[in-house]
This record gives sequence, C-alpha cells and structure tokens, in this order.
Amino acid sequence: KSTSMYKCWLKYYKLENKKLSGEYKNLLKSIVIKENTAITQSAVNELKRGLAGILGIRPEISEEPAKPAFLMLGTLSGNKSIAGLLGREKQNLGEEGFIIKLLTENEQKQLLVAGKTDRGLLYGVFSLLRLIQTGTGLDGLPRIENPVNQLRMVNHWDNMDRSIERGYAGKSIFYKNNKITGNLARISDYARMLASVGINAIAINNVNVHKFETLLITDRYIKDAAKLNEIFRSYGIKLFLSINFASPLSTGELFTADPLDKEVRKWWKNRAEFIYAYMPDFGGFLVKADSEGRPGPFTYGRTHADGANMLAEALKPHGGLVIWRCFVYNCLQDWRDRTIDRAKAAYDHFMPLDGAFAENVLLQIKNGPMDFQVREPVSPLIGGLEKTNQVLELQTTQEYTGQQKHLCYLVPMWKEVLDFDTCAKGRGTSVKKIISREVFKNKYGGFATVTNIGDDTNWTGHQMAQANTFGYARLAWDPELTSEEIAESWIRLTYSNDRILVDTIKDMLLGSWRTYENYTSPLGIGWMVNPNHHYGPNVDGYEYDKWGTYHRADHKGIGVDRNVRNGTGYAGQYHKEVARLYENVETCPEELLLFFHYIPYDYRLKSGETLIQYIYNTHFEGVEQAEELKRKWESLKDKVEEDVFGHVMERLEGQITHSKEWRDIINTYFFRKTGIPDELGRKIY
Ligand code: GCU
Repeated sequence: KSTSMYKCWLKYYKLENKKLSGEYKNLLKSIVIKENTAITQSAVNELKRGLAGILGIRPEISEEPAKPAFLMLGTLSGNKSIAGLLGREKQNLGEEGFIIKLLTENEQKQLLVAGKTDRGLLYGVFSLLRLIQTGTGLDGLPRIENPVNQLRMVNHWDNMDRSIERGYAGKSIFYKNNKITGNLARISDYARMLASVGINAIAINNVNVHKFETLLITDRYIKDAAKLNEIFRSYGIKLFLSINFASPLSTGELFTADPLDKEVRKWWKNRAEFIYAYMPDFGGFLVKADSEGRPGPFTYGRTHADGANMLAEALKPHGGLVIWRCFVYNCLQDWRDRTIDRAKAAYDHFMPLDGAFAENVLLQIKNGPMDFQVREPVSPLIGGLEKTNQVLELQTTQEYTGQQKHLCYLVPMWKEVLDFDTCAKGRGTSVKKIISREVFKNKYGGFATVTNIGDDTNWTGHQMAQANTFGYARLAWDPELTSEEIAESWIRLTYSNDRILVDTIKDMLLGSWRTYENYTSPLGIGWMVNPNHHYGPNVDGYEYDKWGTYHRADHKGIGVDRNVRNGTGYAGQYHKEVARLYENVETCPEELLLFFHYIPYDYRLKSGETLIQYIYNTHFEGVEQAEELKRKWESLKDKVEEDVFGHVMERLEGQITHSKEWRDIINTYFFRKTGIPDELGRKIY
C-alpha cells in the first residue's frame, strides 16, 4: 500500500524537469551550517530528506564551506558571518522571517538560507524545498518573507478516550484509553507537517474539557504532555492546553472556582508554576467558558474579564497566554421567542469588555456570528473590539461543509472573511488588517483553526481536504496569497507538476465551496442539517429546537429579519457603512439575503429569478457540478497513483449521491411549502 497520502505535501518526489534538477544538484552538493539547536537540526534533517527525494542527492554537511558550490544555512542570532552576507536586508527580517538569496563569489554561485532565529531558518528551508519541488527556478531570488500574523495556531478537539469532537479523519493522534500516545514518531511527522507551513502553536485537547482532560495539567499526565511539547518545540511550535475553568473544584481541591477568590487565584498560580517546571516554554491556556454547558465566571456573577484575567495573572510570570473564546450564547432558547438572536450574543457579551482584558489575554472569535456555516456574515466583534488582542477562529474540520466526505476547498471562503471591510476606521479596514494588528496596535493577535487532522493514514479523511490544512496555514502566514496560488502549490507538492493535472485539480478545488453551497442551505440561512452529528439535510432539524438556529420558513417566505428597523437589531452591531448595507433588502449582498431578511418566495433577485426558482436552480446545478467533479477527476486517471485515484473517486461518487439527497429534500420541502412548481419542470417529489 502506497504511503504517499500519509506524506501530504511533503512527498518529495523526483523533480521531472531535468535541466532544473541538474542546476539544483550542482548548487546543493554541500551544506554548511555552524549552529546546532534542536530546530536547526530539524531544518538540516528536512533538507536531507527533501533533497534525497526530489533530486536524489545526499549533500555533505559540514561547518566549513566545501568547494565548489554550497548551501549556507544560518541565523543572525547564532552565526556572525550571516550578518555580513546579508547586508541591509537583515533589517527586514522579523523574529520568524527568512531570506533565501543567491550569492556569487568568484563566479561561484552559493545559496544562502538565513533566519533571524532558528525558527526563521526552519521556515526558510521548507520554503526552499517548496521552490525546488514545484519546479520554480531561482530567478525570483532573493526571497524575503516574514509571517504576517503572529499566532498561527491549530486547535485539536481531541478527547483522551481517542474520540475527536467533529473529527472526520479517524481517531485522535494524541490519545488512547485516556493516556497520551506512545506513538511519538507520528507526532513528530505531524510537527514537521505543521512547521513546513509555518504553524507555530497547537492546543492538543478539546475545548470541551472532560474528566480526564481536566487532569492534563496535573502530575497524572504532565510528564507525557512534556514529551509532546519537546517534539513540537524542535519544530518551533508552542504547546497549549485547553483547560476546565472549574479545575480547582473538579480536582476536588477547592470548593469554588470563583475567579475573585484568593484561594482560587493561588491555586492557578501554583498550577502554572507546576506546568512550567515541566515545560518552560509552555504556550498557555485555551478556554471555553460559559458556553454550551461549560463552567465559567458567570456561575459566580463575575465577568469574562474577571475569569480571563485571573488565569492571565497566573501565567504572566512565565510568559504564557490565555486564549479565551467568544463562542458564548444562550443555548437554551425558546424557538417561539423572536426577541433573542443568537447571532448577537458574542458581541453583546464581549464588546462592553473591550479594554478590560489583561495584556496576555487574547479573545478568539469565530469568523461568523453563528457557527461555521457554509455562508455567514463576518462577526461584528472583529472591527468592533479595538483595545483587545484578537484571534480569528476558522474551522478546517468540515463540520458543516461536508465532513470530509464532500470536497469543499475552504480557502475562497476564508479569503472573503479576511478581505471583508469592517469599516472600523473608515473604508479599507479589512479583517486581515485587524487580525495582523496593523490597525489596532495590540500586543498579540493571529489565527486559530479547528483542525481536520485525525489518525487516518492520509490524516484528513478525504485526501483533498489536505488542501484545507495546507491552505489555512499558508493564509495565516500570508493572507495576501490568493486561493489559486495556494491551490496550485498544494497540487504541485502533493501530486505532480503536470500542467493538465494542476489545472484540472485547481478547477475542482476552486469551485467546490460554491458547489457545496448550491446544493445545501441557500443565501446565508445556514443549518438545515440533521441535529447533533450535523451531516445531511434536515430542513427543520433545528427549527423547533433550543439552539437559536432558525430559518423561519412558512408558505409565503423564508429568512430572519435581523435589521434594526423591524428585526432583531443584529445588523446594527456593524459600523454604519456596513450596517446600512445589511439593513435594507435592496442593498444587502444577495448571498446573505436570508440571513438578514425574511423574503417572499416570489421576490425577484438581481438575476431576474424569483427566490423559489433560485432555490430550485441552485440545487439542480449543485448536483450537476458534483457530477462534473467526478468527470474531471476521471480525466486524470493516468496521472495520479492508483490508490489515490481510487480513494478520491470513491469520495466523489459518495458526494454525488449525497448531493442528490440534499437537492431533493430541499427542493421538495419548498415545493410542498409553496406549491410553486419549477419553471423548468424538473423532477421534484
Ligand atoms: C460547535 C460544535 C461543537 C463545539 C462548539 C464550539 O457548536 O458543534 O461541537 O463544541 O462549536 O466551538 O465550542
């Protein structure tokens, strides 16, 4: 059985281009490096692995330059001669930045990969390997890169019983039988994979912290956690743990978890000291509090600032961070009550606290106000908060976007989020500029995602979902990269540089989000999924439930009035330029029409179609597009490995069948509600 899917974008297959390959071989015969840290070792090992695979060479590694050609690796902090080789460019290197540069001395070419720190160097090495593998020549050098975002994190929703909340790629790679795994080789492969695309932080347990997970910060597990930490450290990745806010209580040590209680504060300080004794570079805590039944400061009549700051105080002497999630809402709503709107909750809870959080607290905000639906507006908290460190939370695991059974390349969706203009400081205040801290100069900020990784051989269930794992990280590194660029490099690294293959798969990826949206819930209304597991269509699945997720369809129309004039007032949480757009049906972007307004089925959209006809059309179209995906993939039969071909084909076939289920249930639902037939007379049940 081929393991190529296991290697993801680090496959390091033989470069097809003989001429380029020859040039590289010449240039990379020997490697010079004078430093020796765990991270520089990772970099050198990676180079060896990569060059062996791509060029079939085993370069000599030494501290002194060998003649004639060599690759020089080093850091500004650890090797004095690097500064001389860099000249003025060194001023442009940030903490994690790197440069790849061609030097010519006595007509002899040398390649230099340097970072300000060893982490930068590691990123530089991975970048060089990508350049080589994708058949890019060295004409574009020098290449200087600094990550745009400071925190580039993945969140695992892994439980210690080996299950993964919202995991669609097998079981946890971290735990088994309430123990931390002994399969450290796989963790090491994972760390490489993350570092290769610039991820620098990881939370290894679910935000819903249950019984055993509560004990991760105690002597029961800390030594094993420290082993994982050591692996991640050697790839420049900080380890975080999700904590149970009620830990002092749940461990049976105190009778309260009140954040203003002296004993509780002392408890957390001692805990922090204990943790840092085992992991001196521990990242900090990720916290879900007062959310979906989890404990939090509300129990004691305290605010979220009180709760977060208490933890921050404990971590501060050690340089740790508190990442506090804003996913706080009433999950015991009465569907009859139209005055409560779940979409408003995060803003209502956290806006009044802007400026009240300690310096080492970061608020982690989901991209939309609901919950990772296929289409949502951007959370108004982003652009609302000014004096608070912010982390944008995305969801790579495809909870609501096909659960890795359907192909859904999410980068175009994330790009829309990042490019969204909040108008916080007038036009041009995009989400990406807020998150990167360009607009409000807060101390910390960055990206987090709920990862799609599990212990399936291919890590992500659907092999093509690896493009999301890769794409998330690339965007966190540089949000200016386009969806096309990211797709193209992923394809080249994962499959081959064959032009037809690259173009075909690129087409498949780029249209897939829209395709998924077409056959699922229309125009921003969301949900319409089966309760609990969230897979497959069920239009009223959440309609009469307590979760605050309603579409309000009747026989005349569908949608939720969230305007200020006659709705829940949600639209008013945005800055006025944006609020005005959403307020009125005529100016509301159509893809979000039903999120913001109740619309009659005979309403004419800009295309001239009525709403009901639009629903029918997109659902028929979505299935046709799913069928097209299969045809495209079929055309690549001779260009991809057999097992990969078969695996993806099987998923695409399943997607077609399942998209028909979506189409027919949605169309039938609306046909029965309205009695309005499809203008084109297609089959509706
Ligand atoms: C969603 C998801 C839950 C998860 C929650 C969260 O609601 O379905 O499983 O716990 O998000 O983000 O905390």
